[in-house]
Amino acid sequence: MPTVTETRIITKRMHESEDAHNIDTYISLGGYEVAKRALRMNPDDIVEHVKTSGLRGRGGGGFPTGMKWSFLPPDSFPRYLVINADEGEPSTFKDHMLLVRDPHQLIEGIICSAYAIKSNKAFIYLRGELALAYDRLSAALKQARERGFVGKDIAGSGFDLDIVIHRGAGAYICGEETALLESLEGERGMPRLRPPFPAIAGLYAKPTVVNNVETIATVPHIIDMGGEKYAALGVNKSTGTRIFSVSGHVNNPGNYEVELGITFRQLIDDLAGGMRAGGRVKFFIPGGGSSQWLIGSDEHLDCPLDMDEVGQRFGVMLGSGAVMVYDQTTDPILVAWRLAKFYAHESCGKCTPCREGTGWLEKVLYRMSHGQGRPSDLDMLLDVGDNISPGLNAPFSQTTICPLGPSAVSCVVSLNKFFREEVLSRIGAPADETLEVTA
Ligand SMILES: Cc1cc2nc3c(=O)[nH]c(=O)nc-3n(C[C@H](O)[C@H](O)[C@H](O)COP(=O)(O)O)c2cc1C
Ligand code: SF4
Repeated sequence: MPTVTETRIITKRMHESEDAHNIDTYISLGGYEVAKRALRMNPDDIVEHVKTSGLRGRGGGGFPTGMKWSFLPPDSFPRYLVINADEGEPSTFKDHMLLVRDPHQLIEGIICSAYAIKSNKAFIYLRGELALAYDRLSAALKQARERGFVGKDIAGSGFDLDIVIHRGAGAYICGEETALLESLEGERGMPRLRPPFPAIAGLYAKPTVVNNVETIATVPHIIDMGGEKYAALGVNKSTGTRIFSVSGHVNNPGNYEVELGITFRQLIDDLAGGMRAGGRVKFFIPGGGSSQWLIGSDEHLDCPLDMDEVGQRFGVMLGSGAVMVYDQTTDPILVAWRLAKFYAHESCGKCTPCREGTGWLEKVLYRMSHGQGRPSDLDMLLDVGDNISPGLNAPFSQTTICPLGPSAVSCVVSLNKFFREEVLSRIGAPADETLEVTA
């Protein structure tokens, strides 16, 4: 018997109706009522609710949202709200679902958030490949404009808001917030050196808040239930619910919105239907491709989904909320190679350790996973990794401008930590073509 079920807050409406993306259905299900209420509130009170709620960014970094909003200088205008809908982290597919199935929820979140931070212009930076999301979001924005929820004097409140959708061109690095801002300005998408941080000088050198789709979609619910009630959900400083994208060798891969604090085992067994064909968990990647890995031990599987605890206990992160699960048939070296290939391809090339190092990680892992590894390869990879992420504490330490470089090291550290013997025993052995890789 399952011990946990989903706690649906931001995914509730889309489960009530397949047509929630349509404004009439959205309104019939209570949509835009919170925005109307919010526009009668003092903006600073909304910021307080978000602070009290303990909401932390759902894009990967987990930074407290209310605190981020408070960094905006009080007297500097114009200021911008930028929604990060780039969703490029390997195996993450929750924002896509929110955009396709409930785009008005995001628009309502933008209205509430822009009003709270006193911004009259918001941008949605949308991953270019998400064609259906673009269609749904554009249609929703048009409908919202026609009904007076976007534009001048929204719902008679005196508040003006314009929203622009900008499509990216398929670079993972453009999900990094400052590369995103460069791209939005029409420049090549490369991360900026900080400081200044976007809150001080962001888009067009103006104060800017960048937040993830899921983060902003949560804001109306916080206003609706009040910050304290939201904070009562979840565990410790990981309050509320989050959507986890579970993929790999589970019976029911998919997006699950759960109260933070349930365990990985509950997520995998009770919600994602357990392992396919009675298999067992060999290892899993708990927070998108950038995180270090965990294995199928009781200690790891019974760890709660707590953004801080996973880091303190095991040096991993919940990141973007993507959990990739692999059974005993999986070759971890192939998975590491596939991940390294992704990061090598996506490195923007601005800093040397990442530009050069990710390429070497990929090349050496390729030969290791194809029966041509050398006894010294793993240690050499660790040395390369140490030059990108000193102390091999990826993705938390870096010699680079942004965390992409260290993210590429996570798979090497994990190989060494959990599969060193398996890696060394494979040196000189022919590649096992029957092994499967799903990364
Ligand atoms: C290489 C890289 C890629 C990223 N991609 C995304 C992304 O696709 N979506 C996202 O929301 N955040 C992404 N982030 C995190 C953003 O830089 C930023 O922290 C986030 O958008 C802030 O929003 P939040 O506080 O609501 O999480 C990425 C970070 C890095 C380093
Ligand atoms: S770490 Fe890599 S992706 Fe990030 S700025 Fe440096 S070269 Fe570019």
